[in-house]
Order: sequence, then structure tokens, then C-alpha cells
Amino acid sequence: MSIRTLDDLLAEGVSGRRVLVRADLNVPLDKQTGAITDDGRIRAVLPTLSALTGAGAKVVVCSHLGRPKGAPDPQFSLGPVAGRLGELLGTRVHFATDTVGESARSTVDALADGEVALLENLRFNAGETSKDDAERGAFADQLAAFGDAYVDDAFGAVHRKHASVHDVPARLPHVAGRLVLREVEVLSRLTGEPERPYVVVLGGSKVSDKLAVIEALLPTVDRLLIGGGMCFTFLKAQGHEVGSSLLEEEMVETCRNLLERSEGKIMLPVDVVAADAFAPDAAHDTVPADGIPSKRVGLDIGPETVAGFAAALKGARTIFWNGPMGVFEMPAFAHGTRGIAETIAKADAFTVVGGGDSAAAVRALGLDESSFGHISTGGGASLEYLEGKTLPGIAALEN
Ligand code: 3PG
Ligand code: MG
Repeated sequence: MSIRTLDDLLAEGVSGRRVLVRADLNVPLDKQTGAITDDGRIRAVLPTLSALTGAGAKVVVCSHLGRPKGAPDPQFSLGPVAGRLGELLGTRVHFATDTVGESARSTVDALADGEVALLENLRFNAGETSKDDAERGAFADQLAAFGDAYVDDAFGAVHRKHASVHDVPARLPHVAGRLVLREVEVLSRLTGEPERPYVVVLGGSKVSDKLAVIEALLPTVDRLLIGGGMCFTFLKAQGHEVGSSLLEEEMVETCRNLLERSEGKIMLPVDVVAADAFAPDAAHDTVPADGIPSKRVGLDIGPETVAGFAAALKGARTIFWNGPMGVFEMPAFAHGTRGIAETIAKADAFTVVGGGDSAAAVRALGLDESSFGHISTGGGASLEYLEGKTLPGIAALEN
């Protein structure tokens, strides 16, 4: 790989130098309290940050959180993340209340060697996500002024052509952080020559989000197991009624076509947990996938499906899983996701969990993270990597 790494930068010496680190601290927050519900992405960037502080760098961290519209929006402040990051690092994190303004300038200027600053949400600035090269470039100039070198450790954002990901590295000496490096190493094992059988499990709500990766994976995989909200569009394509389950009507034809071309590799649920309403306490029971009552909504895969998927996973040597099998946030509809996650955890295979939601599910269900080969911090990013797309953040590091 033609990418320089954090070790290369450390070998040059970073003591007293300002190092700008793009992290993906886009953690899920509780809708009511705003509390961080899963700090996996903060933990994932610690090795890079600790290596830099340990070597005496002045570390300036930047990230996005959520999707604010290019202006400050308190519900998306990184303030709480700064607190959690400080706890995990065991050192105070100096928080700038703006991204490139007066607060950021004085915070960065005051940093001592080995100290860490976090800038406020990158997306409070329209330049971060702008489609206009000049507007993005102007914002990148301001960010680049805070660093003598740039480290990209935001794997979850490498698929975004944003100023902090794509334009800053063109302005500073740049390297890949430990997390980005590990993610790319693992995912390249899946796109290279994965040990067979290679089984992929896909879930999540929308077929339209996963279409490109299904197309890219079909020729490569031995089995493709489909659950989650997206399975209902496939069931419809098989001619079944799906009641009031999630359905992308305009994708039915595409799914029919995929099923025809899949040479029997695609496996769909044979039973689903159907409920009266989308609610944690809704009345529900297990019904055959070809017999979903018209007023009911499918919220999880059923036990027979879990058993069938487990049988298909048995003996696999490589497994990639992206997307929950049901509404796992509600305990009544978490059995499918739990069953599949536990099966994958026990498999004698190289196992990769991709995506914000599936990674969060692993932790929310209390499963042992170390029983998986790798838990990716990137949802969209890992899928686009597997699709074989050029990722702007990776390409920028190669130049
Ligand atoms: C993610 O959560 O997938 C990454 O942080 C990227 O966020 P985005 O989809 O809002 O660009
Ligand atoms: Mg995303």
C-alpha cells in the first residue's frame, strides 16, 4: 500500500508538533437525554491518540456528529464527547466551542506538548460538506492551519468527499491512523480471496441502501442471508403479501431480478415475528413468511429462520455481517439479531461485523466483542469498500 502510516509519522518525531487528527466520533445519542449510548467509536480512536500524546505531539482532534445543516445546532455539540474522550484517555481534553473560530484558535495555541484539544462539530460549517470545491477548500485551509501534519483515523467517514476527509490531506503531510489501517487490512481480506465458504448476512431497513453491495457481493459469496426490514421487499418479490411491513414498492422488480440471477445463493426468512404495531409492547407472534396477516408489521425474523441461517453459517470460513435482523432496540424483537450474532460469534471463521448499527447491536446485546474477528466502525464506509468504490478519504491519503 502506498499510504504512509502513523508509525512513519512517529518515526519522524512529533514532539512539539501540532497533529490534526480527523476522527469519527459520530456516536449514537439517547433521544431524550442526549447521553452517549455507545462509545465504541470513541474507544476505537484511542490507540492513535495515545501514541501521539505519548510522543509529545499537540493533538488537535476534529469530527462530525449527526447531520446538522452547516450551522451550529446545540443538540449536535461534541461537548459531551469531549468529556467522555477525556475519561477514556485519562487526561483532560480541551474543548473548543467553535470549529475554526476564536475559541478554536486560542485552544490550539494554548496546547502544551502531549495535550489534546477537540474542535466543535465540523458540520457546523457549511464548507465541510459543500459540493463546491472552492467552498470546501476555503474551510480546509482554515482547518489545515491548526496542524503541521494530518492523521486520518475516521474510517466511518472515508466514503465522504468532505473538507476534513478529502481536502485537508492535500494541504498537509498526511498519514493513516491505526484504526483506518486496521479497517483497510481487514476489509481487503474480504475483497481479496476470502477463505470459503464465504457467507454474508445483510439486514437493516432499506434494500436501496444495500443494492450496490448485493450486486457486488453476489458473484463472490457462497451464501447471502437476508433479514431485517429489507427482507420484506424480497418476500414481496417472491409473491408474498407482507402486511404493513416495511416495503420499498419501487424496488420489488429489482429484487425479483436479483433473486433470479442469484443462482440460489440468496436465502430469505421462512418465518417472521409480526406485531400489531411498531411498539415495544405490541401484541405479536411468529407467522410463516408467506402468511403475514394484512394488518400486521414484521419486526424480526422468526426462530425457524434463525435456525436455517445458523445452519447456513455452520462451516463457513469467512463471515461478513451488516445490519440488524429486526428492531433489536425493542427486547421483544431482538431475538433474531441476538441469534445470528451469537451464531457468528461461535463460528470457526474469520468474522467481520460491519456498520454502526450492527456494531452497536453487538454491544447493546451484551455480547463479547472479542469473540468477533473484527468489528468495523464504518457502516456506509465498509459497504462502499466492499463494493470496490474509490473512497475519497483513502484516495486522498494515497496521493
Ligand atoms: C456514519 O455514522 O455512518 C459516519 O459517521 C458517517 O456519517 P454520515 O453518514 O452522516 O456521513
Ligand atoms: Mg452512515
